[in-house]
Amino acid sequence: MANGGGDAPGLNAAIRGVVKSAIGQHGWNVLGVRNGFDGLIWPEGCVPLPWDSVSGILPRGGTILGTTNRGNPFSYRQIENGKEVVRDYSGLCLENARRLGLDALVVIGGDGTLSIARDLAARGLNIVGVPKTIDNDLSATETTFGFDSALQVATEALDRLHTTAESHHRVMLLEVMGREAGWIALHAGIAGGADVILIPEIPFRFEAVCDAVRAREARGKAFSLVIVAEGVKLPEKDPQGRPIPPAGPGSIANAIACALGEMLQKEVRVTVLGHVQRGGSPTPFDRILATRFGVHATELIERRAFGRMVCLKAGRIGSVPLEEAVGANKRVDPDGDYIRVARATGITFGDRP
Ligand code: F6P
Repeated sequence: MANGGGDAPGLNAAIRGVVKSAIGQHGWNVLGVRNGFDGLIWPEGCVPLPWDSVSGILPRGGTILGTTNRGNPFSYRQIENGKEVVRDYSGLCLENARRLGLDALVVIGGDGTLSIARDLAARGLNIVGVPKTIDNDLSATETTFGFDSALQVATEALDRLHTTAESHHRVMLLEVMGREAGWIALHAGIAGGADVILIPEIPFRFEAVCDAVRAREARGKAFSLVIVAEGVKLPEKDPQGRPIPPAGPGSIANAIACALGEMLQKEVRVTVLGHVQRGGSPTPFDRILATRFGVHATELIERRAFGRMVCLKAGRIGSVPLEEAVGANKRVDPDGDYIRVARATGITFGDRP
């Protein structure tokens, strides 16, 4: 079993689900591949995972296997003699999997890791995928584990910002993760009562954000909460027509805050939530989902249904071909139900007056 990409709360619960059902239900031996696919390139660190190895890990964040979100065995970058070289280690991974005696490999990951899994499966490795990411951007599953835990952290951050924003009559910006998708911002924004939600799927204008803040002031609310997805696209120019310097994850909310502060002539403060969203204990929802995914992965192996990824559809666990599971990321539908509900409760996306 291997996991790859950024860690997500629930990874240990999924590992535990795989190990306990593999041993308890099927009588198999389980081997843990450490640090993503690196562990197949350099297999010395692989560890046996007996029943007791997963005792007590259900509530623990991170992953007992270690992980990395760098390094694709098909085009692995490394420094040799001071120079960067790119090597294809995929053949070595297949060879090492054979040497380790792996009949099947459970790969837990997001889009990047599962794309590599698909390519290794195409070369003959018996792979079953398990989706995880706090970003919730995999289209073949209703949700991934990790998302609910990240959402809880982001919502609590908004709740905390609410009281201090109100006391100081400030505009507070909270930047959250999510890559190119606005799921964390949208859901936390609804759950935490944000006044403005800025997401990559809905282009915004500064004037519209300022109008929303001023409209609140006119109603006697001298503070506003703005949640910003890290992947949001900045308008090319600020309201004075000056080009806006590029900004990305970690700095995008600051760039927006600069423009808003100038326009509103109000105190604006920024919180970048960062990796706090990924760390710590998974929520009960994520523990349960990860456990269900892990157990189902072993059931797929039992049926020799390889090249598939477990998924959640209408509350039930199923599976889809890995080929369908990767490549097309799930984005927020600007005309979808969540956006409609948010707008109906007075939340602004900065796109309309
Ligand atoms: O995909 C998970 C994620 O946390 C994204 O939301 C974020 O953009 C990225 O990983 C951060 O990656 P790193 O851990 O390399 O900073």
